Amino acid sequence: MSEKKLRSADWFGRKGKDGFIYRAWMKNQGNPDYEFNGKPVIGICNTWSELTPCNGHLREIAERVKWGVLEAGGFPVEFPVMSLGETLMKPTAMLYRNLASMDTEESIRANPLDGVVLLCGCDKTTPSLVMGACSVNLPTLVISGGAMLTGRYRGKSIATSDAWNYFDDWKEGRITEQELRNIEGSMCRSCGHCASMGTASSMASMVESLGLSLPGNAAIPAADARRKTFAQLSGKRIVEMVREDLKLSDVLTREAFENAIMVNAAIGGSTNFVVHLLAIAGRVGVPLALEDFDRLSAQIPLIVNLEPSGKYFMEDLFYAGGLPAVMKELDKFLHQGAITVNGKTVKENYTSAENFDKDVIATVSNPFNEDSGLAVLHGNICPGGAIIKPSAASPKLMSHTGKAVVFENIEDYKARIDDVSLEVDETSILVLKNVGPKGYPGMPEVGNMSLPKKLMDKGVKDMVRISDGRMSGTAFGTVVLHVSPEAAVGGNFAVIRNGDTITLDVPNRTLMLNVNDEELEARKKNYIPTLPDIPRGYTNLYINHVLQANEGADLDFLRGCSGSEITRDSH
Ligand code: FES
Repeated sequence: MSEKKLRSADWFGRKGKDGFIYRAWMKNQGNPDYEFNGKPVIGICNTWSELTPCNGHLREIAERVKWGVLEAGGFPVEFPVMSLGETLMKPTAMLYRNLASMDTEESIRANPLDGVVLLCGCDKTTPSLVMGACSVNLPTLVISGGAMLTGRYRGKSIATSDAWNYFDDWKEGRITEQELRNIEGSMCRSCGHCASMGTASSMASMVESLGLSLPGNAAIPAADARRKTFAQLSGKRIVEMVREDLKLSDVLTREAFENAIMVNAAIGGSTNFVVHLLAIAGRVGVPLALEDFDRLSAQIPLIVNLEPSGKYFMEDLFYAGGLPAVMKELDKFLHQGAITVNGKTVKENYTSAENFDKDVIATVSNPFNEDSGLAVLHGNICPGGAIIKPSAASPKLMSHTGKAVVFENIEDYKARIDDVSLEVDETSILVLKNVGPKGYPGMPEVGNMSLPKKLMDKGVKDMVRISDGRMSGTAFGTVVLHVSPEAAVGGNFAVIRNGDTITLDVPNRTLMLNVNDEELEARKKNYIPTLPDIPRGYTNLYINHVLQANEGADLDFLRGCSGSEITRDSH
C-alpha cells in the first residue's frame, strides 16, 4: 500500500525557485535537508506564556514532544499561538477564545504541517486550540499541561475552589489581609493549572473523553515526571497518526461528544464545558444542542469526589486511577467503540484501568451524589435555555420562588450589593444582567456573585443567582448561568424588574418570571437594547458576530471547517 503524499511535500518537496525558498530558510536553523524533507512535519502548537502561569511549563513539555517525534521519524517544529491566561486577562479571557482559535486555525493551515500537537492548560487555551484545529482537520493530538500539586495551608489541602471561601472569610474579617497573602503561595505551589475540577481540569478530561489525547492525559500532575513521559509518547504517536491519516474528524464523531458529556457529568465538571463543547461541535459539524447535555447527564450519577462538588483534588484522582478508571466505571453508558487518537477504541483504552480509591472514584451503584452534570432550564426568562449545576447547588433552593433584586450591569452590582439599605433577604433572587457574550462583552465569570455582606453577617451561605454570564468552574452555589438570549439583545430577561417574582424549579427544568405575557410585551415595547459602543478592533468584530451561549458563543463566520488545502503559493 503506497503512503499518502505528505502535505509538507507541497513546500519542501518542490523543484526550482519554490523549493529553494521553502527549504533555504529552514536551513538557517541548522536543519539538514533530510530532516524535514520527506518526513512528517509535526507542528507543536504552544500556549506557553509567562502571562499564562498555568501554562508556564509547556516549553519543557514541548521538548519531550520533540523527542517523541524525532524518535518516530518525524520532524518537530514548535510555534506559538495566542495564550489565554485566565487570571490576568481583562476584561475576560473568554472574549479572546475565538480570536485564539483563529490564530490557531490560520497558523496550522498556512504552514507546512502534516500533523499537530496542541499544548494546552489554562481554561480557554484548550477549547481555543481544539476549535481552531478542527477547522483545519489535520491529524491532531492534544496534551494538557496537568494540574498543580494540591495546595497545603495550615495542614489543610486546598485549591482554587477554597479561594472563594477564603474571600468570604476576608470580607467578613475572619482572616486578615496577611493571612490571605500567605494562602496565595500555599495554594499555587507548583507548575500546572488549577487543582480542583474547575474548567481547566474539565477541559483536560474533555479531550481525553473525546478521544483527542492518549489515555491518562487528564490527571497526571504537571510536576510529575510521568507528564513528560506522556508528552514523549504523544510525540511518537502523532507521527504514526500522520502515516495512518487519522484526522480530527475521524475521532470527533457524535458518539465521542456524547461520551464527553457523560464523563463530564460523572466528574462534576465545569459549567463552562457546555459552551466550549458546543463551539467545538459547531466547528466539526456534529449536531449538538443544549438539551443533549441534560438528557445524557440525567442518567449519570456523580462518582468523582473532587472540589468543587466534592472534597478531593486532581492529584488524588491520578493516584486513584485517573480518568480511565472513571470511564471504566461508566462502561455501560459509554459508546465503547468510539475511536481515539491512539487508534484504539475507548473501551480498549480503559479495560485495564483500576480504581485504587473508592473514596475518590465511587461506583455507579453507590455514587457520591445521584445528581450530577448540568440541568438545562427553559421558561419565559430563557427561551434559548439556561444552565445550573445541581451538584454544586443547595438542595433546598432547587425549587424556590423569590423576589428579584435586579442589577442592570456589573458596575450597578458592585455599587449596591453591600449597601445596607438594599432591600434583600435570603429568599430574594439576585439577577445580574448584561454580562453575556455581547453585553459585557465576552461573557465573564461573574455569575456566582458574592452575597450581600449584611446577609453573610447573618450566616447566609447561598441564594439563587441568575445571570447571562458564566461562573468559574471552581465555583459553587445555586447559580443559574448562560441565560439565552442575553439581556443586551432584548427579550424577557432584559425587562425583569426589581420586585418581580421568579420561580426556579430544577426538578421540572423551568425558570419562570411570574409576570403575564401582556405586561412583558408592554415592557419590551419600551425597551431599547443597547450593545457596548466599541467602534473598532477585534472587540467590535466580536460584538457583531458572537453567537449566544446556547450556540457555543463562537463567531458566526467561524463555524465549520475550511480544510487544510491551500491552492496559491506565497511567491
Ligand atoms: Fe488557569 Fe485556573 S487559572 S486553570
